[in-house]
Amino acid sequence: MILVTGGAGFIGANFVLDWLAIHDEPVINLDKLTYAGNPETLQSLQADTRHTLVQGDIGDTALVSQLLTQHQPRAVVNFAAESHVDRSIHGPGEFIQTNIVGTFNLLESVRGYWQMLPADQKEAFRFLHVSTDEVYGSLKKDDPAFTETSHIEPNSPYSASKAASDHLVRAWHHTYGLPVLTTNCSNNYGPYHFPEKLIPLMIVNALAGKALPVYGDGQQIRDWLYVKDHCSAIRRVLEAGRLGEIYNVGGWNEKANLDIVQTVCALLDELRPRLDAKPYRDQITYVTDRPGHDRRYAIDARKLEQELGWKPAETFESGIRKTVQWYLDHPDWVAHVQSGAYRDWVQKQYASGASDAGH
Ligand code: NAD
Ligand code: TYD
Repeated sequence: MILVTGGAGFIGANFVLDWLAIHDEPVINLDKLTYAGNPETLQSLQADTRHTLVQGDIGDTALVSQLLTQHQPRAVVNFAAESHVDRSIHGPGEFIQTNIVGTFNLLESVRGYWQMLPADQKEAFRFLHVSTDEVYGSLKKDDPAFTETSHIEPNSPYSASKAASDHLVRAWHHTYGLPVLTTNCSNNYGPYHFPEKLIPLMIVNALAGKALPVYGDGQQIRDWLYVKDHCSAIRRVLEAGRLGEIYNVGGWNEKANLDIVQTVCALLDELRPRLDAKPYRDQITYVTDRPGHDRRYAIDARKLEQELGWKPAETFESGIRKTVQWYLDHPDWVAHVQSGAYRDWVQKQYASGASDAGH
């Protein structure tokens, strides 16, 4: 079995759902269920004995050590993090706590477990750390895309905390021999994405008749990857990645934010036209830019492609269409996220103090 952390969040939940759709190998899913962790995303696994959701913190060494000893996973895949740049600007404390201190504690719990494994299991064990292209900082218009040897130059509290966690993971390999792998991926989009991030926010606001807030001039560039392609890359790296190596993950899809918003608007015009027949792009408004806003990210994923034969399955055009359609098809998920109803459910579910959500 494998232990996944942060598996009730956007990418982690997609990973767990895809994993159990193609493997029979059970998953222990450790998630703190912060505002970003939504057990409703995992509802289809409610009666599935291969999945156990445990509410808890990666920084809780007693809990993590107990889970490792009890379940004896052959791998840990670490998604758990505070992930929203704007929140990190308003309140960096949680980012330091979870992304740095939490990762440190997790590494120590895993090291303690790994060291005690019998030789064959010790050799087969893997710790895969999921990270971001934002650790490399910002590119100028004509700079080449980030490779695995690009300088680490994080600019936001979020990216700095992720860079710190990447360094810890690297050091635990070099110092203690922990068998680690790190992936640094570009911006993801797809189903179950919390509507505080650009693409789901634009879809949800557009449908609600609200403003579509574009920061600054909207010409910042991000490199977009459909979430299921990120999940397939993680599976491939887990399966065949070389120990201690970093693999950049990206889809060669650099787009300016304004182009993304206009694409979302055009798809909604086609799939769910406004009642007044006006275009959704009329809702676009330019708002004050994010402080320290990185201008451009771009990922060079050739190492992963050439060494491990990974390729994304979706183009941006196919992925964004699927994403917009998914949000149109799942108004309840969106409504519950927006109203916070899923949080009431979590509170009720855990009111007894039980830590195991039982699915
Ligand atoms: P998310 O915010 O949607 O989910 C994070 C999950 O981690 C939530 O379920 C939350 O409850 C959980 N969590 C937070 N703190 C925790 C703690 N202390 N202990 C246990 N669980 C905790 O984030 P996401 O977008 O799914 O990102 C997952 C990972 O992928 C993060 O490490 C992020 O840095 C990385 N990443 C994200 C993107 C992206 O575009 N979203 C791109 C590249 C890398
Ligand atoms: P986001 O989804 O927060 O991801 P990240 O900051 O990690 O790249 O934002 C993607 C881009 O969209 C980023 O350049 C900021 C911009 N943005 C807006 O213009 N308006 C918004 O309302 C949001 C949430 C983001």
